[in-house]
Amino acid sequence: MQHQRNFGPAMTLPAHWYHGAEMYEKERRAIFAREWQLVGHLGALREPGSYIATAIAGWRVFVIRDRDGNLRGFHNLCRHRAGPLLDDGAGHCDILRCKYHGWVYDTEGRLRRTPDFGEAAGFDKADFGLFPIHVGTWRGLVFVNLDQDPPPLEQGLGDLVAETAAFPMEDFTGVREVTFDIACNWKTYTDNFVEGYHIPSIHAAFNAVIDFKRFTAEARNRTVIMKAPQRDGSFYGGVWLWRYPNTTLSVFPDGMNTSSILPLDWRRTRLIYNFYFRDTSPAAMTAHEQTIARNCGVVEEDFGICETVQGNLEAGLYDQGPLSPRQEDGVRYFHEMVRDSLAAAG
Ligand code: FES
Ligand SMILES: [Fe+2]
Repeated sequence: MQHQRNFGPAMTLPAHWYHGAEMYEKERRAIFAREWQLVGHLGALREPGSYIATAIAGWRVFVIRDRDGNLRGFHNLCRHRAGPLLDDGAGHCDILRCKYHGWVYDTEGRLRRTPDFGEAAGFDKADFGLFPIHVGTWRGLVFVNLDQDPPPLEQGLGDLVAETAAFPMEDFTGVREVTFDIACNWKTYTDNFVEGYHIPSIHAAFNAVIDFKRFTAEARNRTVIMKAPQRDGSFYGGVWLWRYPNTTLSVFPDGMNTSSILPLDWRRTRLIYNFYFRDTSPAAMTAHEQTIARNCGVVEEDFGICETVQGNLEAGLYDQGPLSPRQEDGVRYFHEMVRDSLAAAG
């Protein structure tokens, strides 16, 4: 019979994993260069030439609808001297013109013109097309993957797929994008997102409209699924989802929000939230504006604590702490996934 030994509670990642260029560089390659990343919604990519440009852990990328109607993804980087083609955000263009010296690419990524470049022996435009990336769509949401040979998107999404099956996501229209920058490591913020343990201390108004005693966080198949019964006055639908490594999706009674938790460097993180609703008539939008404002208020309540924790992780005294099986299984799971990704990358 196998002898079981108790090694004590699960412990957090060591504090030094939360800062420094070396760990960040490892995570860029092991996690952000390999995992499917949410970049936006098909609603912004209807016409040929419409695009969404963003940055993923330092890699600037964009998705564009080409002249034949196909979605294509590329690094937002000119093959001449690494200039940018597009500013971040959604927009429309007929051709892709580099902002540095004006080289022109078509929407298929082929280099078409190199104004005033002159003759250079052996230079062939065909050798200098844009670097392509993989694009996938799922229920209206658009994802990219920087890996040359990524797993199928739905596999990468894990149980986000099953957990949202009952929600009419296809009926929702994007109405607002909100961006926040926080001065902490992306994992410090994520640790906070995947547990509800801090709700009574940090989110008093939110705590008043949920039944905190019955808050649950379940971790499985690349996701953390958080649920709580709602009381009167809550604008939430009672389900908050997170998908490894950095996608969130929260459900409202008549809409949802998504977010991407994007490292800018090892101690700065950008959150890009998008809000979607079924009914976007002017009458309905009045209530939705309130939902957006209150939701953003809850999001912002976490920033102070995350930035203070970041400072304490960097200060050099604390190393690791124990995780509650009941309250912090999402944190344990996230840390296990990070450890696995770094181990797999070698
Ligand atoms: S870097 Fe793009 S044209 Fe020079
Ligand atoms: Fe929070």
